[in-house]
Amino acid sequence: MRILVIHSHPVEESFNKALFKLVCDSLAKAGHDVDACDLYAEGFDPVMSAHDRRIYHSYPENTELVKPYVDRLRAAEALVFVTPVWNFGFPAMLKGYFDRVWTMGVSFDLEDGKLTPTLRHIRKVAAVMSYGATRWRATLAGNPPKKVIHRVIRGQVKIGAPVRFMAHYDMNNCTPETRAAFMEKVRKEMENF
Ligand SMILES: Cc1cc2nc3c(=O)[nH]c(=O)nc-3n(C[C@H](O)[C@H](O)[C@H](O)COP(=O)(O)O)c2cc1C
Repeated sequence: MRILVIHSHPVEESFNKALFKLVCDSLAKAGHDVDACDLYAEGFDPVMSAHDRRIYHSYPENTELVKPYVDRLRAAEALVFVTPVWNFGFPAMLKGYFDRVWTMGVSFDLEDGKLTPTLRHIRKVAAVMSYGATRWRATLAGNPPKKVIHRVIRGQVKIGAPVRFMAHYDMNNCTPETRAAFMEKVRKEMENF
């Protein structure tokens, strides 16, 4: 499968960067065609300008500034997100990627007020996340990033596509053992993706 791996962490030596590399390597080892998209390293601009907002509903003009990212999304058959959770949401970099790339004519069509999802070619989704909070505290906060993956992204891709959510919670109290155990779990999942 052609798999687009989307990653948002600015620090090269971070746990998340290690997860990103592990995900890409494990998928490649399993024979997949991996498109590794490291948003910070690629210098993606996540800021929606006044111009971008004005043309948000004007397809294909709205895709012109982010065309390579639109092409990569369209070429993908599966998606894997690798990201930390910041303020119980995605880092602004990843949020901006969704805002600017998953635009009208790309992730949905809108005709006479009727919205139709258009990423039905995506057959599988996974998310690999890390939280400072415990699972309990994240649940108490409503765990918005988990809901976005399970409810929003799921609704946009192929109907019935499997969606796998993996998280290392409680990073504030993590140890080399908890990190290694999580990486092993991710490695196995990705090698059998
Ligand atoms: C700006 C910022 C905001 C954060 N907000 C949250 C949060 O709302 N909930 C949470 O569980 N962890 C939060 N964290 C903790 C990160 O999720 C945690 O540091 C990260 O998952 C650890 O992975 P890393 O070492 O790869 O950065 C935040 C961290 C930063 C830097």
